[in-house]
Amino acid sequence: MKEPVLSLQSVHKSFGQAHIIRGVDLDLLPGERHAVIGPNGAGKSTLFHLISGQLAPDKGQIRLNGKSIKDLPPHRINHLGLGRSFQITNIFPGLSVFENVRIAVAQRHGLQYNLWKLISRARAVNEQTEHLLEQVMLGEKHDTLAGELTYSEQRALEIGMTLASDPQVILLDEPMAGMSREETDYMVSLIREVTKGRSLMIVEHDMDVVFSLSDRISVLIYGEVIATGTPEEIRSDRRVQEGYLGEEVSV
Ligand SMILES: Nc1ncnc2c1ncn2[C@@H]1O[C@H](COP(=O)(O)OP(=O)(O)O)[C@@H](O)[C@H]1O
Ligand SMILES: [Mg+2]
Repeated sequence: MKEPVLSLQSVHKSFGQAHIIRGVDLDLLPGERHAVIGPNGAGKSTLFHLISGQLAPDKGQIRLNGKSIKDLPPHRINHLGLGRSFQITNIFPGLSVFENVRIAVAQRHGLQYNLWKLISRARAVNEQTEHLLEQVMLGEKHDTLAGELTYSEQRALEIGMTLASDPQVILLDEPMAGMSREETDYMVSLIREVTKGRSLMIVEHDMDVVFSLSDRISVLIYGEVIATGTPEEIRSDRRVQEGYLGEEVSV
């Protein structure tokens, strides 16, 4: 089996008395799209915060390419190749779509502090920005103010900004939340496109999306992974049926 790009071993996290993450083992393989599903309050977002460094685990180990990241701050983890979606509030609504992504790309190059480098490398930055806009299907919206984009386009823009650091691993926590069927379809094709050659860990409630997009699925219930497997394996897993999917997936 391939070495995982991201690996969690016996990870625990409590908030006060509440033991929220209870010994999670989870591997993300190179190039795979891996969904984490489970009921509200299961600890999915907490798990993502532990991986991206917003929270530190109480116990256990988290490795990115074999290197422990469990005590590193978010920006260090980001530098090591892990990208997680910006919040919408990180978008500058008064700047164009192009300018928003260009800022993220320039940060990647560390150019914001160095005018001379900025000038000499501006062209490379612009080219990368154009490329990213194409990838997230916002090429046509190049000059549109970010604040004037639709909700789903803003989410696409966030993903474009996440990609600016060229992450090897992408974490997306409910990227389709609040979207219509049409917007969801647009997001799914966008996610397929931008995760080519990368590894994806995604939390998503829409089971149609989860089962069509994922190579593997892990089911988290009350802070424990009760099953990991291919969509077929998860669908037919009795514990999953009883514990979570039940009537939600009629396939
Ligand atoms: N910072 C925090 N302080 C206290 N409790 C928290 C904190 N973050 C999450 N929780 C609790 O942890 C549980 C899991 O939350 P969360 O990870 O957001 O679940 P999910 O994303 O699966 O819906 C919930 O009961 C939530 O109230
Ligand atoms: Mg959540």
